Amino acid sequence: MDKPVIASRFPYPLPVKKGEKVFWCACGRSENQPYCDGSHKGTGITPVPYTAPRDKIVFFCGCKHSAKGPVCDGSHSELIDN
Ligand code: FES
Ligand code: FES
Repeated sequence: MDKPVIASRFPYPLPVKKGEKVFWCACGRSENQPYCDGSHKGTGITPVPYTAPRDKIVFFCGCKHSAKGPVCDGSHSELIDN
């Protein structure tokens, strides 16, 4: 399985409606961040579904290193530049 690429070093704050289901891009290759556009094909990585529990703003992970999957957990602040 390929490693995810860093799409952004910051989360994407986006509004969602209760019950709305989206597919978060886990591979970092989508041109439609933070959502999957099918670009993961051949990487062995698959998108992660997220269903909104209520109307809210979700901070979707852009770095693809969050331990909480689709949602930012602050891990982006520990990424090393290389
Ligand atoms: Fe990244 Fe689908 S494009 S998981
Ligand atoms: Fe990935 Fe924050 S953007 S953990």
